Order: sequence, then structure tokens, then C-alpha cells
Amino acid sequence: MKKIIITGGAGFIGSSLVQALLEKDVENLLIIDDLSTGSESNISSFLNDKRIEFINSKIEDIENLDSLFSSYDFCYHLAAGVGVQYIMDNLSDSLLTNILATHKVFEACQATNIPVLLTSTSEVYGVAEDDIWTEETKSLIGPTTKLRWSYAASKMIDEFIALSLYEEGKISPIIVRLFNIIGPNQLSKYGMVVPKFIEAALKDEDILIHGDGSQSRSFTWVEDVVNYLIKLAEIKAYGEIFNIGQTEEITIKDLAELVIFKTNSNSKIIYKSHEDVFGKAFEDPKRRTPGIDKIIEFTGMKPTKNIEFMVENIVDSKKNKK
Ligand SMILES: NC(=O)c1ccc[n+]([C@@H]2O[C@H](COP(=O)([O-])OP(=O)(O)OC[C@H]3O[C@@H](n4cnc5c(N)ncnc54)[C@H](O)[C@@H]3O)[C@@H](O)[C@H]2O)c1
Repeated sequence: MKKIIITGGAGFIGSSLVQALLEKDVENLLIIDDLSTGSESNISSFLNDKRIEFINSKIEDIENLDSLFSSYDFCYHLAAGVGVQYIMDNLSDSLLTNILATHKVFEACQATNIPVLLTSTSEVYGVAEDDIWTEETKSLIGPTTKLRWSYAASKMIDEFIALSLYEEGKISPIIVRLFNIIGPNQLSKYGMVVPKFIEAALKDEDILIHGDGSQSRSFTWVEDVVNYLIKLAEIKAYGEIFNIGQTEEITIKDLAELVIFKTNSNSKIIYKSHEDVFGKAFEDPKRRTPGIDKIIEFTGMKPTKNIEFMVENIVDSKKNKK
């Protein structure tokens, strides 16, 4: 695959994917991004590359998506409303983008007969009770009155559309469920915990934990994710769903302490209930740990970075940007 489309290519994961693909023998790369949460600065260093075309538009507003797609041979569909804070601040917009833009992308992939990789999320498991969430774990999402679940529901709809069209022989989808991906270009302002903690620590400001901090997460390095995305396209893993994440867990309190240690900060840790931060319509899983046997079996690749490395690297990159 040499002619590739990346929706959401100016975002955090998308721009890392752009960089990695340009280092391979890609002939043409089309980035579609409305810069709603992405940023041109993430891709500005690549825009002089003759292989790149950048369309700054909402996918839903592009009229000729089929003809645009017709000269490409693979689509990575990453564009979406992302991040708990962003979702809670843009409820209906993010929900509709996640469903309507995705449907439009699938229709264009069907019309042009090109495979598509969809980035879904660990949120689709909700607060599932299994210790380890495998791709077959039963989802347990909350009632529709808890609006934070709208993100999970929208990504579930995306998965259902992809799998239905696959079953009908209309598209060739690969679905990945990403679990808390981190890296240097991730923004803090949409509620992502690691950049938020690090930025606060570097300014000696209070580090705010939502809840009591005993909830755990497992974080994965963005370059590992990008390598998986490229490999899954190469091996043509159509019709399959994969967790992408790491099994090493850390509680949010331990994460805050690690960040304070690695930044040599004087920050204090303070706590606020989820309700106080997001209002009544909020619920949060206590743990979120993926089973990753399937992705390792298909790709032969394991995640390579531990949380100490990741925090150190992000701290260094934020210090260098100052
Ligand atoms: N970062 C994570 O930990 C994580 C976890 C689970 C799933 N994901 C999924 O991975 C994908 C990429 O996420 P990210 O972390 O890079 O977030 P991001 O916000 O940096 O990237 C999303 C990109 O899509 C663009 N976009 C949004 N709506 C658009 C639209 N309608 N038309 C065109 N462009 C649009 C944004 O401007 C942004 O550049 C998303 O689909 C997200 O749901 C990410």
C-alpha cells in the first residue's frame, strides 16, 4: 500500500502515523483534518513533502469524497471527537461526527474498493467487570442519562457499521480499540491525564486527581501504536478487531507521584469527585486493562515502553518546547 489517506492526520496519533509512513516508501499521503482538536503545527514540518496533500475540512463537508479517495489504496480513519473533556463539552457535535463522518468514510471506501482501518476505543467496554478485557469481553456501558457513554456508543455504532458492511462484502475494515495512548504531541486541554499532570508539575501547580486516585490505567507509547497500525494494514487483517494497549497498570495516584518525582516538582496532589468536575452525568471505570494476546499473535509485536520511559520522554519534550 503506497497511496494512503489519513483522516485526523493532524491529530496526536495521526501526525505520528504520517511521520512513520513518510519514512517508509509511501508515494502519496492525503491528510483530511478540520483542526478541531488537531493542529497544523503537528504536520507543518511534513507539508513541504511533495507526497503530501492536506485538506483542512470537516469530513462531513467534503462533497466529492469518492473521487478524492479513488486515487488512493488504503484509508486510516482516525478523525473523531476524542477525549473525555472534549466529549463532555461538545456532546452532540462529537457524537454526530463519530457516526456521520465515519459512515461517509466507509461509503467512500466501498465506492472505491479500498480497505479502511477504524480507530475505536477501550471505552466500548464501559465498566466491564472482567479483570482483563479481551476483544470478546461483554461491554457494560451505563444508561443514556450518563452522557459520557455517548463516545463509547458512537464508536460501537462505527464498529457495527464496519462489521455489517464487511459481512455483506462491501468494505474491508480493520478495527483497533486503543487503550490510553500517550506521547509527546498529546494535548492536555481535552482532559488527557498524562500531559495534564506533567504540565501542572512543570509549573509547580496543584495536580488535580478526579476521584480518589485508586482507579488504574495502562498507558501505551504512540510509536508502538503506529507500528501496529502499519503492520495490521500490511497483513490485511480485515474483519478483525484488536485491542492495542499495554498490560502494565498504574493507579492515577501513583502516576501523579511518578510525574512529581520525574519533574522534581513541588506540586501538591489534590482530589475532586468526578461529579464535581463533570457533573452528575459521569461514570468512570475503576480499571482498564487490555488483553493483548491477539494483536501479539497477529503481528508478532509487543509494546516496547514502560511508564517510566514514557513519562520521562514527555517531560523532556515539554521542557525542550519551553
Ligand atoms: N489517544 C487515545 O488514547 C485514544 C484512545 C482510544 C481511541 N482513540 C482514537 O484514536 C483516534 C485519534 O485520536 P487522537 O488521540 O490522535 O486524538 P486527536 O484529537 O488528536 O485526533 C483526532 C483528529 O481528528 C480531527 N477531526 C475531528 N473531527 C473531524 C472531522 N469531522 N473531520 C475532519 N477531521 C476531524 C481533529 O482535528 C484531530 O486532528 C480517534 O479516533 C480516537 O477516538 C484515541
